[in-house]
Amino acid sequence: MYYFDHSATTPVHPDVSELMDSIQSTIYGNPSSIYSSGQKAKSIVENARKQIADSISAEPEQIIFTSGGTESNNQVLWCMLQNQKKHVISNNIEHPAVIKVLEFLKPFGLDHTLINVDSDGIISIDNVKKAINPQTSLISLMLANNEIGSIQPIKTVMDIARENNIMVHSDAVQCMGKMELDVIDLGVDFLSLSAHKFYGPKGIGILYAKEPKNMSSLIIGGGQEMGLRAGTENVACIAGMGLAAKLATASIDKHINSLLEFEEQFKRGLQTFFPNAIFNGSQVNKLPGLINVSFPKHRSDILMAKLDRVNIAISNGSACGAGDIKPSPVLSAMGIEDTINLSTLRFSFGKSNTPEQIDYLLNQLKSILTPE
Ligand SMILES: Cc1ncc(COP(=O)(O)O)c(C=O)c1O
Repeated sequence: MYYFDHSATTPVHPDVSELMDSIQSTIYGNPSSIYSSGQKAKSIVENARKQIADSISAEPEQIIFTSGGTESNNQVLWCMLQNQKKHVISNNIEHPAVIKVLEFLKPFGLDHTLINVDSDGIISIDNVKKAINPQTSLISLMLANNEIGSIQPIKTVMDIARENNIMVHSDAVQCMGKMELDVIDLGVDFLSLSAHKFYGPKGIGILYAKEPKNMSSLIIGGGQEMGLRAGTENVACIAGMGLAAKLATASIDKHINSLLEFEEQFKRGLQTFFPNAIFNGSQVNKLPGLINVSFPKHRSDILMAKLDRVNIAISNGSACGAGDIKPSPVLSAMGIEDTINLSTLRFSFGKSNTPEQIDYLLNQLKSILTPE
């Protein structure tokens, strides 16, 4: 398979698979048990916590293991119900794991304002300022968008938040290994990550909390994770995620360079035979290797099906039901009209790609888009 959908998920790094296999087959103690096999499992969990903390410049005590980005985002937003101030500011291109949670929590008393993005997919600081009211307790702003890769001005937002005594959460699920992640430099109060986006296993993630003692658990039960996430730890996945974070951080410069090279090769090649291609979102202020392109006069679902026949995996941002494709809300929020929206594909390159694969992709696109 020719896989160009690394923003959806990534293949597990072979070293990570090997580590997880060996833990699954040999370490079966419960990390909460006091005898030695339990303590062995506990030390594996704590080693991974340190690896993750080091990769984002956090302290191990600030890392809570969750089941992934969705749960981490949920935990932060649900916690706001316990705050005296009950208004959250977010924006209209967040992942559903933020927007739908905010909609769900509204009848429970958590109010929110979704600010608009511009045609580059970036929020305006003025709009953030205007949305603040005396009840605002949190700004939830993704670091980079999953469909277009646009990077938000989180540090400027942090300055405004501090002046107004507001906390900041950032969904950074798309970012590990593709941009520097330093929670001290960013200054955020909460940050969500998910292992399957950085060559780790699925179903495991982290929530960074600057002040974990001010948090509460979303999943209620035993006292695991300092009382902040009940349930017996998924030891093998946690260990796999720790190693994946370490590997992603160690190879970040090389990885970014190769993503930029693939992106350049793809854009240059595409423009030679399809000059009408529209590259959506900011092309400067965005994640490397993620390209969102509209192909006017071509429907994205048909393009995807044709590419699938030649073994190419890519995605469109549209929500597809049975025979029912809807425009991507992210592209609509950027002001892209429906016919262009429905002719859009997302290509996201990654470690499993080579320049020869990009050439194959270009050749296949050429024969689909410009038949003899
Ligand atoms: C920006 C963003 N947030 C959250 C999620 C959800 O993460 P998970 O799949 O770990 O629940 C995703 C996954 O696509 C994402 O891209």
